[in-house]
Amino acid sequence: MSYKVFTYPNRVSLIVTSISLTAVDTEIQEASKVLYNHICSPLSELDMEMIRSVPEGGNWQDIPPEIIQKSARLTQIHRSGGRTTYYGRLRKNLPSYTINTYFNRPGNGTFVHPEQNRLISMREAARLQSFTDQYRFLGSYSSRYKQIGNAVPPLLARAVATLFDPGLVIDLFSGAGGLSEGFVQAGHDVILASDCNSNMCKTYAYNHPATEVIQVDLHLREQSENLLEEIERTLAGRHLNTLVGGPPCQGFSTAGNRNALDSRNSLVFRMLEIVHTLQPHNVVIENVPGLKWMQQGQVLESVVRALEELEYSVSVHNLKAEEFGVPQRRRRVFVVGQRDGDCKAAPAGVLAPIVRGRTRDDVKLGAKDLPSPVSVSEAISDLPLIVSGGGEDLIEYDVNWTTTDYQRLMRESLSFDDFITKRAEQG
Ligand SMILES: C[S@@+](CC[C@H](N)C(=O)[O-])C[C@H]1O[C@@H](n2cnc3c(N)ncnc32)[C@H](O)[C@@H]1O
Repeated sequence: MSYKVFTYPNRVSLIVTSISLTAVDTEIQEASKVLYNHICSPLSELDMEMIRSVPEGGNWQDIPPEIIQKSARLTQIHRSGGRTTYYGRLRKNLPSYTINTYFNRPGNGTFVHPEQNRLISMREAARLQSFTDQYRFLGSYSSRYKQIGNAVPPLLARAVATLFDPGLVIDLFSGAGGLSEGFVQAGHDVILASDCNSNMCKTYAYNHPATEVIQVDLHLREQSENLLEEIERTLAGRHLNTLVGGPPCQGFSTAGNRNALDSRNSLVFRMLEIVHTLQPHNVVIENVPGLKWMQQGQVLESVVRALEELEYSVSVHNLKAEEFGVPQRRRRVFVVGQRDGDCKAAPAGVLAPIVRGRTRDDVKLGAKDLPSPVSVSEAISDLPLIVSGGGEDLIEYDVNWTTTDYQRLMRESLSFDDFITKRAEQG
């Protein structure tokens, strides 16, 4: 076999063996008390000097010239004008900006804690991505930043999952499992997931112990064929309800190079070949908004056409994560194909979207009749104070720290439906 199957049948034993134990760690076996991954990246002295001068909601433009001139990159940004998210400090009363894979550095986005002079921790980023606190990220630190930043926020995935009747799901390019997690929360049964990266598979398998996790590189024809054989074996004659996948998006992303020749783009077509073989009832392809403009829209058009040729009714939804309970402004595209039915309408938002005006500070809510989106403060204000470069991979959480309903949702002491009902009542 040229692929690896990951299993973590006993999650508690992994807690005991995978980290160095202290007296406190051994006592934290109760799920309601654990807090994982509350660790933040260190800052260089210069970066620390820079972020100290950035107020809540501010960015590189707030850094005084005498500090700017100490950094070649910042001098360049100052000269040519850079994004106003760079060296940004989060605002407490709004959702965050997009959490990408660079939240271990201040210069590539808005990742500075709103009150403390440090970057947000992995757990804070996971909260802003709507992963509950039971979701644990494993592997090297650099991989964990990718796992969290690349994930589909589970609450956004959950909204998409509610478009379909619950059934068997397979997740390709599954990463740490954000997309799958939303489907699980909506009552689907994710039977198999696959990714080429071992750290991604490790995190996925730990958090989804009932799902078969297969490490394969879908660029390689032989490995794709092995995966198909494994899928047939797992399905054992049952019909696949939904095939989901977020093929790598670097080539499509406005943050990366939008390179039409990027070989990673071809993976979306590999996914379509698998659709052709498996013929699931539904297909969901998730990607960054850049997919719409790639090669003047031709990439998206060919994905839609390929699905239509396979007799799917296709709809393309542009979704704003904050409308679905995620405390983050993240825009994503979902291509939805469905057999035996009309095109699916987009899931209806339950919270007001953020509408940006002409300037960064000119922010309005897009729907007066819906409750406001979840703010950064509501999402993370309960998490313990840590110093820059500090924190712990496993600490004990005191239930008395929880002050908001979003925190209760993340601690799994409030259901999503009750969370939304309460928010609507509060107006
Ligand atoms: C955008 S991330 C997916 C995020 C995931 N859907 C989630 O919600 O957590 C894309 C994933 O594709 C995987 N990937 C990249 N190249 C691949 C390949 N050739 N074969 C299989 N997986 C690949 C990456 O390791 C990465 O985890």
